[in-house]
Amino acid sequence: MRIGFIGLGIMGRPMASNLMNAGYELVVYNRTKSKAEALIHRGAKWANSPAELAHNANTVITMVADPDAVRDSATEPDGFLPHMRDNFLWINTSTVNPSFARQMAAESESQGVRFVDAPVAGSRIPAEKGELIFFAGGNRQDVDACAPLFDGMGKKTVHTGEAGTGSGLKMLFNLLLGTGMAMFSEVLNLGQSLGFSKETLFSTLLGSPVVPGFIEGKRDKMDSGDFAADFPLKWMHKDLYLAALTAYEQQVPMPGAAAVRELFGQALQAGYGDADFSALARFLEPDDEDQ
Ligand SMILES: NC(=O)c1ccc[n+]([C@@H]2O[C@H](COP(=O)([O-])OP(=O)(O)OC[C@H]3O[C@@H](n4cnc5c(N)ncnc54)[C@H](OP(=O)(O)O)[C@@H]3O)[C@@H](O)[C@H]2O)c1
Repeated sequence: MRIGFIGLGIMGRPMASNLMNAGYELVVYNRTKSKAEALIHRGAKWANSPAELAHNANTVITMVADPDAVRDSATEPDGFLPHMRDNFLWINTSTVNPSFARQMAAESESQGVRFVDAPVAGSRIPAEKGELIFFAGGNRQDVDACAPLFDGMGKKTVHTGEAGTGSGLKMLFNLLLGTGMAMFSEVLNLGQSLGFSKETLFSTLLGSPVVPGFIEGKRDKMDSGDFAADFPLKWMHKDLYLAALTAYEQQVPMPGAAAVRELFGQALQAGYGDADFSALARFLEPDDEDQ
């Protein structure tokens, strides 16, 4: 029996490829078939729908954009969930909100399918190197059953608790990523208006305790202006929206995160959605003619 992998974007493709490197047989599905070609060429079997994939796999892994894409893949008429056999395993690695993950756990259970809520920390390069970190929510036995697969794609797995807690931890992680990027982008903008060069700002601020470590990894993009996406800005906006939804459900105020979400929303509307989320720094820079 094979592993079924759905969602072959920036993250899904290298994850699936690493599973093949680890010796697993894969059956794959992606809404846009062309993204599966390299894997098919290496021997992965193509499924024409998530339902067809479910007939050829005992474990299904999803790595798609957002809750709607997960629901479409799982429960729509051609979705995999109703076609999975009893006691088979669904691992959702897409970033979703905790209450949605709990819903998917309940729907899985009603179909006799075991569900593990396992979003990842780490972007394109850790995905390629097999160095992702899995935040795995689910019962201990199911998370343990996933361990060889997680080891094939990542360097560490944290068992966070029940389904929903993996997505909860991932949400906290991305809140820090988004707000950190927003604050650094504003600092760059203010600093340049005060006459400091980008070089001076990078060399004095990066590496200091006040700047999050991940910003160093974005320096080349901000220096070169080449914002080819490792983590698309539209997905950061999505994650901040899902955090707001969660804050509403939890009755927790998050005024700072709300302001940052709107900032990413403005960048999205200005056409930066498919760029890396660090393009927020470029979005905030004044146009040349304004300087
Ligand atoms: N990139 C990162 O650094 C990173 C890190 C951690 C977690 N994540 C999370 O991982 C997930 C995937 O991100 P990515 O960066 O790989 O994004 P991506 O390259 O944009 O890939 C998105 C995937 O979702 C599929 N998809 C989108 N809408 C769909 C729908 N309605 N029905 C079925 N499939 C749909 C896409 O299919 P098509 O190919 O047909 O468009 C593609 O396979 C997201 O939840 C993201 O937040 C990303």
